[in-house]
Amino acid sequence: MIVTIDGPAGTGKSTVARRLADSLGYEYLDTGAMYRMVAFHVVSKGVSLTDSSAIEAVAEETQIDFRNGDAYLNGTDVSGELRQPDVAVAASMVAQIPRVREILVQRQQEIAVGRDIVCEGRDQGTVVFPKARCKFFLTASPEIRAERRLGEFTSQGKKVSYDQLLEEQNERDRRDENREVAPLRPADDAELVDTTELSIDEVVERLKSQVQSKL
Ligand code: C5P
Repeated sequence: MIVTIDGPAGTGKSTVARRLADSLGYEYLDTGAMYRMVAFHVVSKGVSLTDSSAIEAVAEETQIDFRNGDAYLNGTDVSGELRQPDVAVAASMVAQIPRVREILVQRQQEIAVGRDIVCEGRDQGTVVFPKARCKFFLTASPEIRAERRLGEFTSQGKKVSYDQLLEEQNERDRRDENREVAPLRPADDAELVDTTELSIDEVVERLKSQVQSKL
């Protein structure tokens, strides 16, 4: 059983996907972390985020693994580095390059083979797993999404401003929704869930009962 959860940043997607996977006894795949890993690799190598062919070359040599919830890039645990706001913006830039998407989509499909898994991202229901039996698309107002992300960073002791987060989020949304390959949009057969007024627990329960009704 493959469950896909797509939507923009700050809709609670990652937390919901992780909790849903836990409560169903399924595995969890954070595909955003894969784009972040390529971006982090690109930046650490000093490659320009506008040099598509150099980025493609870095993507080809980026070995991605997940072990016990941690993200490994060519054997090194980089989980801590991936959550920074500048890595998110860089991820949305490398995610526009068709060859980068091709490499990561193939890796995502390999990881999911033969598994019960919750796959979270932007294109899981539309492109990566078009035949998934359960598809969800989470939304929420931009202001609530930025507030949630601010809360996340603040609780980790990181200083970021609300205005800066909102601006960066709008920039990322624009890029994700307007790119030529696999733009962010709900699959025709996805259930839309507006999380603006819902708690994480309420969203998880709603998704869980939908999944269970299809088993
Ligand atoms: O989900 P997360 O915020 O970690 O994703 C970071 C960026 O990676 C997104 O803004 C998007 O540009 C890209 N991404 C994507 N396709 C996915 C997952 C993430 O293009 N399946």
